[in-house]
Amino acid sequence: MTFVRVCGADELEEDTPKRVELDGTPISVVRTEGELFAIHDICSHANVSLAEGEVDDCHIECWLHGSRFDLRSGKPDSLPATRPVPVYPVKIEGDDVLVSLTQES
Ligand code: FES
Repeated sequence: MTFVRVCGADELEEDTPKRVELDGTPISVVRTEGELFAIHDICSHANVSLAEGEVDDCHIECWLHGSRFDLRSGKPDSLPATRPVPVYPVKIEGDDVLVSLTQES
């Protein structure tokens, strides 16, 4: 599994998604509840950036229609979205945030 640096660890604020790109793939990196997540940054319902939504209870909410996606699995827990969005392995090494485009689900 190849991990690539996407940003610095000090660029992440708690509960504030950060939009990055890796090989042209938009990704939202989220630090919340002491954990780090990387989720595909396009809602599965329409072409909307999830990074602009709110983070709460390990979910990120799409600002347009309000579907909430579980940051651990990418699965929506409310309509109108029905399909999951990909989530990616992410880790911090030193001062760097690293993401792998290998999908976990
Ligand atoms: S665009 Fe995200 S729920 Fe509709």
